[in-house]
Amino acid sequence: MTDTIRRAIVLGCGSALPARCVTNAELAETVDTSDAWIVERTGIRQRHIAGDGETTGTLAAEAARKAMAAAGVEPDDIGLIVLATATPDQTFPSTASWVQHEIGAKNAFAFDVAAVCSGFLYALGTAESMLKTGMAKRALVIGAETFSRILDWDDRGTCVLFGDGAGAFVLEARDVAAADAASAPGVIATRLHTDGEHGSLLYVDGGPSTTGTVGKLRMKGREVFRHAVVNLAHVLREVLDDAGMTGAEVDWVVPHQANARILDATAKKLSLPPEKVIKTVDIHANTSAASVPLAYDVAVRDGRIKSGDLVMLEAMGGGFTWGASLLRV
Ligand code: UT7
Repeated sequence: MTDTIRRAIVLGCGSALPARCVTNAELAETVDTSDAWIVERTGIRQRHIAGDGETTGTLAAEAARKAMAAAGVEPDDIGLIVLATATPDQTFPSTASWVQHEIGAKNAFAFDVAAVCSGFLYALGTAESMLKTGMAKRALVIGAETFSRILDWDDRGTCVLFGDGAGAFVLEARDVAAADAASAPGVIATRLHTDGEHGSLLYVDGGPSTTGTVGKLRMKGREVFRHAVVNLAHVLREVLDDAGMTGAEVDWVVPHQANARILDATAKKLSLPPEKVIKTVDIHANTSAASVPLAYDVAVRDGRIKSGDLVMLEAMGGGFTWGASLLRV
């Protein structure tokens, strides 16, 4: 008998963006900033901002439908929905519950996870574990945000950095021959980390149990930047070591899109050529938990990420939380 291992395989992906796109020049009309400053310090050129009737839930549902279409599965086939967000439609019920009903995935159990910009990595790790233990056969993993609704539009240090959007994966549990572990599709290795000591460097100054308000995003950008480069380089090495692989074997890195300079610095620390790094920060800005699946979907649809490729996903954000996941497409 052949030894097998269970893998969570990405069957398809999808994404969604609000209709309205706002350029740096447009922002500079109402905020004391300039296109030149934003591009030079962040690489951001534009962001999508949710309008009336567009919410984290509606964006998530649209991304989920596209991912199911790409995967060739029906809503009934989904057994689990894990939705990462820091900007839920309501405190409860979870946005995942709303999406479950909206897309008609009546066989799925559904819940949200909160790990801010690393949320998609946490959701992916959670879903992967549940698929591997047999709690579901197919899962929708979604990252969806409307950060525009928690920004202080008078704080130029933060309001220029973020955008809204959603991205989704459909995953399926499959048994593959253990001997083919390196070449078989699916999630190969994942590491997640938290360091609550630095919670005050990136946070929202409100919440149901403290102020009873939603609050606004606050960030000490320069300090977050410093931690991001160190933590990401460390977790990428951990995941490569777990997988017994080297950076040279990685075809694509799909990072959280916070700042083009963080992407460049992380790639350099790992000696990864910049052309292997998928960059969408210029067109999406920082969409928190949505940024990794949004960037992944762009690169799949434009033909860069192909079947058989080895892809590293990574993110770092409020908490601090950070993580990375290596998968074979
Ligand atoms: O997604 C979660 C993870 N988040 C991140 O990873 C974000 C990490 N941090 C960053 O990306 C960068 O730190 C920022 C883009 C947020 C800021 O870049 P920086 O090079 O660290 O700039 P700074 O905050 O040190 O500000 C430099 C100057 C300041 O002026 P003074 O004090 O030098 O006179 C700011 O007041 O730039 C000024 N400034 C602006 N000027 C024009 C800050 N924001 C703006 C703005 N437009 N929007």
